[in-house]
Amino acid sequence: MPLELQWAVDERIDGLEELLSRVCEACFALEGVENAGMTVRIASAEEVRTLNREMRNIDRETDVLSFPGASFRPARTAGKDPARVRRLYDPSLGWRNLGDCVISLARAREQAREYGHSLAREIGYLTAHSALHLMGYDHENPRDRAAMRAMEERAMALVSLSRTEESSMTDQQLYDLACEAMHKAYAPYSNFKVGACLLAGDGRVFQGCNIENASYGAALCAERVAVGRAVSEGARSFTAIAVVGSGSQAWPCGICRQVLNEFSDNMRVICGQYGHGFEAMPLAELLPRSFGPENLGVQEDKHGK
Ligand code: THU
Repeated sequence: MPLELQWAVDERIDGLEELLSRVCEACFALEGVENAGMTVRIASAEEVRTLNREMRNIDRETDVLSFPGASFRPARTAGKDPARVRRLYDPSLGWRNLGDCVISLARAREQAREYGHSLAREIGYLTAHSALHLMGYDHENPRDRAAMRAMEERAMALVSLSRTEESSMTDQQLYDLACEAMHKAYAPYSNFKVGACLLAGDGRVFQGCNIENASYGAALCAERVAVGRAVSEGARSFTAIAVVGSGSQAWPCGICRQVLNEFSDNMRVICGQYGHGFEAMPLAELLPRSFGPENLGVQEDKHGK
């Protein structure tokens, strides 16, 4: 097993060791690094914060910390530097120890909830992220970040943990996240607060709230704030949106229906008034006979990421 799993919390997660071993193996195999391993420590949020402060001078909680055994660089990751990898051989372990990863269990749990997937998947993802750091991958600039993301996705797909396979947000979960977003609305003129939560095809969720302006026409609807957040993070295909209004049931306005139609085949629209439950219906019922990208011969992007 290319992994040493340390538990620094009371809780245990069944099957995690086996899962993380497969994640590590997938990352090392994709990089072409043989006989390698790493340590994964499941720790409390406080321990991670202390380590972050002591080792990196950053006094903040975080989800995962990586401590590489050797310094590789994005331009020369471990696979391109086998001599350096060989020097990491640890006879007591019987493999080349690429370094240590420390994961905050509390943060992993929060993020799992936010993404609507299991805790094991989130820890698996954080382990892949860290394994790649240990091999010299980084996300300091857009090019390196894209290379790292692509490796993460390939590793997760290899162990059948890709988001598409696992994501299953219920209407209630999406609605609850929309309610959470509603509380952040900036609506001093209408006093009508709106929250939205968009579910992307890859399982990620994006929240938004309405943002008004003293120049009234500059107001942004919650739905379009969520779409803006999502598209700028690389998500382009949505399967559902939940919308909640503070004063009445907030079905998306006409402009938002048109914007949602741009990025979905026929997404599910979940809609309610805060404190009064919700209803759901397909976007095509809210925007029948719509005009969309296909009218202009543009189709591929709808099914993009
Ligand atoms: N609003 C939304 O956020 N979404 C809609 O679909 C309808 C309207 C906001 C815009 C404005 O801040 C307030 O509700 C009143 O129109």
